[in-house]
Amino acid sequence: MKSIAVLTSGGDSPGMNACIRSVVRIAINEGMDVWGIYRGYEGLINGDMRKLDSSDVSNIIQRGGTILKSSRSQRFMTEEGRAEAAANLKEKGIEGLVVIGGDGSFKGAQVLEEEHGIKCIGIPGTIDNDLIGTDFTLGFDTAVNTVVEAVDKIRDTADAHNRLFFVEVMGKDAGFIALRSGICVGAEAILIPETKTYIDQLIEKLNRGWDRHKSSSIIIVAEGDDEGGAYEIAEKVKAKFDHYETKVTVLGHLQRGGSPSANDRLLGSRLGQAAVKALKSGVSSEMVGVINDDIAFTPFSQANKSEHEIKWPLLELAEILSL
Ligand code: F6P
Repeated sequence: MKSIAVLTSGGDSPGMNACIRSVVRIAINEGMDVWGIYRGYEGLINGDMRKLDSSDVSNIIQRGGTILKSSRSQRFMTEEGRAEAAANLKEKGIEGLVVIGGDGSFKGAQVLEEEHGIKCIGIPGTIDNDLIGTDFTLGFDTAVNTVVEAVDKIRDTADAHNRLFFVEVMGKDAGFIALRSGICVGAEAILIPETKTYIDQLIEKLNRGWDRHKSSSIIIVAEGDDEGGAYEIAEKVKAKFDHYETKVTVLGHLQRGGSPSANDRLLGSRLGQAAVKALKSGVSSEMVGVINDDIAFTPFSQANKSEHEIKWPLLELAEILSL
């Protein structure tokens, strides 16, 4: 393989730039040309791409977002869109494509390869950590650290006023961010989509804390919880438990930005290297991840969302520590 391209697709995540940098520099080191495609599959359809050299990826390893920009392309879901995308790649002599994104982006890559023979490799880039085939996705570690930093600050003010805070974190289908950050901030409860939330049990728990003279309580709510977001759950609790003054904070997109953690920089660098080497050796239609700290490949057909793969021992630990 003489020429490859790289794009970022779907929700951006910290560590994508570290990964782009790695793809570019490893490809050059392997004697290949490497093209950057702007705005994900949208840019691919529009032919918005340019050849990158080593200096194009200087000074980006520490930056959040993605220098290649991202998009969620509706046009790429159509046969015509994919045909245009493939034609643009072929015109430039590009034979392989590295797609940094989530499971939807990998499904697109799989179809592109099936229909047009472009060899594709996926790299898991999402803060949600909800993909089968990798212990960690790019951006998850940074997002958890961002939540912890923010909630520590909320705890200070919650404590000063004896308040009950509901803090909503991202994770529309998965509670990984909520669970990890919840343990790290000593949350009194963690509500996630993978488990049923019982408002009465939550109130019982808050009552126990109140009886023990707790000066503040923090409930971490994953946005996809079955009882609703933080505002809805706060309303339901307020109706039956009024000892504390109740406040809600939705952390939102600040969880997606910021300088990537050391772990995410390392992960992006390792996955970029593995992806390029895989393409070079003829591997394709696979996502490259890391399992037990080793590089692992999973076919696109299996690299789905792992909605129910929550770590039960962590949940149990959270439960005990918050008593
Ligand atoms: O990246 C995944 C995610 O963070 C979800 O947890 C969240 O619901 C979603 O992105 C929001 O993304 P956007 O603002 O791009 O629609």
